[in-house]
Amino acid sequence: MPTLLRAIQSDITKLPVDAIVNAANSSLLGGGGVDGAIHRAAGPDLVHECRLLGGCKTGEAKVTKAYRLPAQFIIHTVGPVWNGGDKGEPELLASCYRKSIALAEERSAASIAFPSISTGVYGYPIESAAQIAIRSVRDSLRTDSSIQEILFCCFSAEDLRLYERLLNGTAR
Ligand code: APR
Repeated sequence: MPTLLRAIQSDITKLPVDAIVNAANSSLLGGGGVDGAIHRAAGPDLVHECRLLGGCKTGEAKVTKAYRLPAQFIIHTVGPVWNGGDKGEPELLASCYRKSIALAEERSAASIAFPSISTGVYGYPIESAAQIAIRSVRDSLRTDSSIQEILFCCFSAEDLRLYERLLNGTAR
């Protein structure tokens, strides 16, 4: 059964999927943007579990429970800060998606939602970040993947239009 890739516009904390991905920072202790929204919605127990993880390197991903969120678990990943594009940012961003997919498959997740990692505070240009997101997700799915649906959860209508264009076209 092929995995369905879809773009939607939503607050990711509302999505009743198996896994939501958090665009965290290396401390894993919360922050602004989607990280702040996830910690606020999950409640205070989340940061207690995160504290036990000992942080997370850029491009890596770690899992916690989802507490008060409708999701089953949260995959925290740390995207690269945009620094012009020739300091390994594309590879690190692709790694965030790849590692998150691998962790979701390890837990037999059937559905996973991603925010646009690194495209807010971390300043990654949305067009190239979205192309990397779609290509690295497609490339890292196992043929027998448990994942039936992948949602690219856009926060703005503009981001949604971009993801829909890339998903319907030939994402290079
Ligand atoms: N649901 C879905 N997407 C959201 C939400 C939300 N509730 N809130 C923000 N976003 C979107 C932003 O609009 C952006 O498109 O998530 C995307 C990622 O933006 P950031 O949250 O700023 O994440 P990032 O650019 O990866 O920067 C990470 O910001 O919040 C801090 O602790 C975090 O230091 C880390 C840094």
